[in-house]
Amino acid sequence: MDPATRQQLAANFGREAGRYAAHRPTYPSAAVEWMVGTQPCDVLDLGAGAGALTAVALAAGHRVVAADPSAAMLRELTVALPAACAVQSAAEALPFQPASVDVVAVATAFHWFDPDRALPEIVQVLRDQGRLALTWTTRDERVEWVRRLGELLRAVQPAALKGDWGTGSVASVERSGLFQPVEYAEFEVTQRVDRGGLLGLVASRSYVMALDDGERRRLLAEVGALYDETVTQNGVSLPYRAQCWRAELATAPRRSG
Ligand SMILES: C[S@@+](CC[C@H](N)C(=O)[O-])C[C@H]1O[C@@H](n2cnc3c(N)ncnc32)[C@H](O)[C@@H]1O
Repeated sequence: MDPATRQQLAANFGREAGRYAAHRPTYPSAAVEWMVGTQPCDVLDLGAGAGALTAVALAAGHRVVAADPSAAMLRELTVALPAACAVQSAAEALPFQPASVDVVAVATAFHWFDPDRALPEIVQVLRDQGRLALTWTTRDERVEWVRRLGELLRAVQPAALKGDWGTGSVASVERSGLFQPVEYAEFEVTQRVDRGGLLGLVASRSYVMALDDGERRRLLAEVGALYDETVTQNGVSLPYRAQCWRAELATAPRRSG
């Protein structure tokens, strides 16, 4: 994604931070355990948004700093998690002490970073034997109604955001030579949503926020009709796969100064 498009789309998160906090899925604790480990440690949740991963990591006993460039997202995070330490910062310029965290965890956000600038910053804040862990939740389109939902969303998704965010991002980590070989694991998670929840989930996507009012209303009407066709009792189950990657720092000299 070119830097201008990235910045323009990423800025949308602040506009709908409340909706985002209310409707996006959480991460399974097994996934966070695989990413971060079981021993309490210092975690930087980078691109933390409204704190979905921060919440799970805090509940598991880790010490978490949540960083995000969006002040509106961090406000949501602080309301939900008053004990969390929230820092307004982008991945490309981290204001943290060198070698101060054990794990940098990035949930559904690494594709927003400029990897050539963010990866050296991440390396800088990690302790020796520190780890970068990435995750994305993707809708499980093996389920027919979820596949149709995906089609509706892809029809309005800009080309820059199409494709497999995880694989592309992991390739940039591998190319950097800054980390040991990347490991992969996958976890299932289901979100129970009612009509408002499904519409809120769709409306909180960066590219849906960027649509003009008419296009957004049309998309939401189509998603509402799909919900009405699919609903059983008080809602539907929306299945996701949490795809996770982790890699430890390379042992070669890595610090820039
Ligand atoms: C899809 S949201 C994910 C939020 C949260 N991690 C979650 O899983 O719910 C992407 C987040 O990345 C943040 N973001 C965008 N560009 C960023 C950058 N360059 N550095 C750090 N975070 C960024 C956005 O502000 C937004 O909160």
